[in-house]
Amino acid sequence: MDQSDTPSVRAFYHKLSGAVQYVVSDPVTRECAIIDPVLDFDVASTHFCTGSADTILDYLCTNSLRTRWILDTHAHTDHVSASSYLGQVTKAPTGIGKGVLKMQSLWNDIFKVGVHRGDGCQWDVLLDHGDSLKIGRFTLTAVAAPGHSSGSVSYLVGDAAFIHDTLMMPDSGTSRCDLPGGNAIALWHTIQSILRLPQATRLFVGHDYRPNGRKARWQTSIRAQAGTNVDLVGKDLASFVALRERKDRRSPLPQLMLAALQINLDGGRPPLSETNHSTSVQYHGIFQ
Ligand SMILES: [Fe+2]
Repeated sequence: MDQSDTPSVRAFYHKLSGAVQYVVSDPVTRECAIIDPVLDFDVASTHFCTGSADTILDYLCTNSLRTRWILDTHAHTDHVSASSYLGQVTKAPTGIGKGVLKMQSLWNDIFKVGVHRGDGCQWDVLLDHGDSLKIGRFTLTAVAAPGHSSGSVSYLVGDAAFIHDTLMMPDSGTSRCDLPGGNAIALWHTIQSILRLPQATRLFVGHDYRPNGRKARWQTSIRAQAGTNVDLVGKDLASFVALRERKDRRSPLPQLMLAALQINLDGGRPPLSETNHSTSVQYHGIFQ
């Protein structure tokens, strides 16, 4: 297959959180989508910086790419989404899975974390299972992928699948399911449907924590996952769930969880210092 017939994928690894941000583009029309961008957050000063997002903007500029969509796969608990910031700069619409509505309601009930409205109005589009968007000649399709969170979606574009917090690289296993809205049984079924994708599918994971200090990696394959993923080999539903729950009992809560949820469930908009006197929050970046 000619390379121009497949979407180009560029990954941006965020070292601090281990998150992987993506730009998927049509090499012919130069249209692209940004998936799961990260806004840098300095815990000590509670200031936000746009360095990582600006690196993506530099890439778009250098490669003459036009942003059609800015998408998140779910409301992240370990980092702050840069979707709102990138939407302001590029004027591209933002989107997330429709299941975010349940997550807004769930976290509002639990922590009253400051979601201003629970109707999803913070995004331009809420994607249901099977909904699709155009990126140049390619169709991006949202696929429900519950497990890590109830509202998670994967995005399929040509032969590329952005599977976020489902499978990690084969030596790292799978993503946690113990936070509210998570469910290890649902994750097992989501993983089975990922493994049923065409064998040649390029899988792009949402995080890499570099076990044993190895170099960061984010692209994997159906064959590698089915044959060597440390959480899957020799497992059936029951033994996978038992393993996942055992691992989750040992996992500390993400350091940024409450701040990240407060912001991400509000579409990635940091609270303003005038309205939240406990923090002084502002953007810092080259596009100010
Ligand atoms: Fe996540």
